[in-house]
Amino acid sequence: MRDPRTVCVTKASEVDITVAHKRATMILAAGQGTRMKSPLPKVLHPIAGVPMVVYAIEAALATGTDDLVLVVGHGRDTVIDAMRARFGERLRYAVQEHQRGTADAVRAGMSVVSPDVTEVLITYGDVPCVPSAALTRLVDTLASSRTAVALLTCTVDDPTGYGRILRDGHHRVISIREQKDCTPAEREIREINPGFYAAEASFLTEALGAIRADNAQGEFYLTDLVAMAAERGGVATVAWEPISLRGVNDRAELADAESLIRRRIVDAHRRAGSTIAAGAVIDHDVVLSPGVTVATGAVLRGNTRVETGSTIDVGCVLDDAVVGERSVLKPYSVISHSELRSNTQIGPFAHLRPDSVVEDGAHVGNFVELKKTRLGPGAKANHLAYLGDGVIGAGANIGAGTIFCNYDGKRKHVTTIGEGAFVGSNSSLVAPVTLGKGAYVGSGSVVTMDVPDDALAIGRARQVNKPGLAARLRNR
Ligand code: UD1
Ligand code: CA
Repeated sequence: MRDPRTVCVTKASEVDITVAHKRATMILAAGQGTRMKSPLPKVLHPIAGVPMVVYAIEAALATGTDDLVLVVGHGRDTVIDAMRARFGERLRYAVQEHQRGTADAVRAGMSVVSPDVTEVLITYGDVPCVPSAALTRLVDTLASSRTAVALLTCTVDDPTGYGRILRDGHHRVISIREQKDCTPAEREIREINPGFYAAEASFLTEALGAIRADNAQGEFYLTDLVAMAAERGGVATVAWEPISLRGVNDRAELADAESLIRRRIVDAHRRAGSTIAAGAVIDHDVVLSPGVTVATGAVLRGNTRVETGSTIDVGCVLDDAVVGERSVLKPYSVISHSELRSNTQIGPFAHLRPDSVVEDGAHVGNFVELKKTRLGPGAKANHLAYLGDGVIGAGANIGAGTIFCNYDGKRKHVTTIGEGAFVGSNSSLVAPVTLGKGAYVGSGSVVTMDVPDDALAIGRARQVNKPGLAARLRNR
């Protein structure tokens, strides 16, 4: 992953002077997020199935940063555990003990940044929609500008709450003024600071040492480094549209960010060659091969993966599901932590509970529930069945209303059905029990004993006909 950007200055003579740039990116995520009204640390609130901070981290990684530091504080153990589980050792962590302001957070971050870092990119963990393109522009602008600091700015209709960008008569940035420190005239300024900076590391270290908490909030403002840079040769700015740089402070803003991100997710799948209807809901970690069709109201969650040519129809809910090629999930089927191979047909109204496998060409019809059951290639269970803890051979046919009686009140037991076996409708198979290859079970049987290969089992009361009795009862 190491990709130190190098600037090669070739002199007219013959010497190559190569200056290595090494960039650290720091993501501030120590704040409590009081307005979320939640015990969960703010940056762990999920958007499209993953913590919001994941988006900030991925945007930073996409810029090709050498070193990535997450500054944590509130709920830090929970945050670190969640990020370790996802990113392994790719991230490093700095702890800000007390949240005394954004400059203090960056100071905490700098304490773990290695001394050979030449520039630092600073972003927020609670701005999940930030595009990596904006960060790349910011870094490039710093590199080409000869200034010590570059920042993103936005122009908004309602600047309430944001730091305002103050400029002089030549449109040069002078400083950033926090809302609470603004004069009434300054409050009218609509160019605001969304909170993203690239800075030369040496300047940043020096500026952080000089920042004081002498302001309306008694906090160490990172924004003070802008005035310092302005005095010494200026500040470069990159204007960006405001929608994607909005922070998340409460659950209404969380929902806004989520709709933007979900829109991006489905559009990416569309551009990659899948047909995704309006109203389909697809999580961040879902993988679709090109050529998948997802209908309105379908929900694809977790680590779901769907291969080419498959259709997920209206209202299906897939959670950690794997769907092979050319499979059809008819409306309102629910698949949890299960695998469907190629050419399967599922539903409508099928329920696959965890650890089920439907092999090539097998069918699961309406009102059929599978739990921890393997349905062999080409096998069919088309109507109204409960198949729990089963192993069903290739080409077997499970009739309507079949129940695998897998639970004796204490333990679960396995039902094994041989290849090509045929279970007549409304049969109960009391596990543990095995049907041999090609075995038949007569309709309405209660099967309590194993059935040998090619045998026919009938386990039901023999029918008796009483001639004329129906008519006599009717006429009584
Ligand atoms: C900050 C900026 C303001 C900008 C706004 C954009 C300062 C002084 N002001 O204001 O100009 O318009 O962001 O949203 O920087 N954080 C920490 N530790 C702290 C304080 C904050 O990690 O001690 C983190 C928060 O978790 C959050 C981010 O920094 O992710 C911004 O903090 P927040 O308190 O929202 O900043 P504002 O005061 O809104
Ligand atoms: Ca904020």
